[in-house]
Amino acid sequence: MKTAFVGKISLIFLATFFSLFLFKCKNASDKPLNPNGDSELALLMRMMNDSTAAIKELVAQGKLPDKFPEAFLKIHTAKPTDQTVKTEEFEAFAASYVEGLKQLYHSSPSELETNYNSLVQRCINCHQSVCPGPIKAIKKLKIEN
Ligand code: HEC
Repeated sequence: MKTAFVGKISLIFLATFFSLFLFKCKNASDKPLNPNGDSELALLMRMMNDSTAAIKELVAQGKLPDKFPEAFLKIHTAKPTDQTVKTEEFEAFAASYVEGLKQLYHSSPSELETNYNSLVQRCINCHQSVCPGPIKAIKKLKIEN
């Protein structure tokens, strides 16, 4: 009995902890567009995050995936949880991200790692301004040398 109770309490604790973490960028607005689900932008970000982790592995071997991720150009139009993040600054950071992505896909082998790290820095630059929660995780995407 007692262990079941303790189990329940720790589950509640864990759930609270994780929802706090997940909702870091999502609680600034009174009227979330998508109160019961993840926003289009949040889902896109998760894809970008996973894809960047995969690209990191390739770049570390001196390779690039051959297909440019067109889907990520949606960063300009995907609906965020909180519409107030869509400032002029956001647009500038989004443009810088897309530019970094294009640069990476046009890299010569010697520029590959620098251009990859510059792309990750562009993720961080935007996050520093609009959504600091995931920065620690994003930093792990950098290739240390
Ligand atoms: C132009 C600004 C901008 C850029 C560039 C950007 N992000 Fe984001 N990111 C956001 C915003 C805003 C959110 C919150 C999305 C929401 O809740 O609707 C977010 C959310 C996230 C999340 C949390 C998603 C979730 O589960 O809720 C992760 C992880 C993330 N970004 C990683 C990245 C990575 C990795 C990159 C670069 C490859 C990146 N971001 C580039 C603005 C940006």
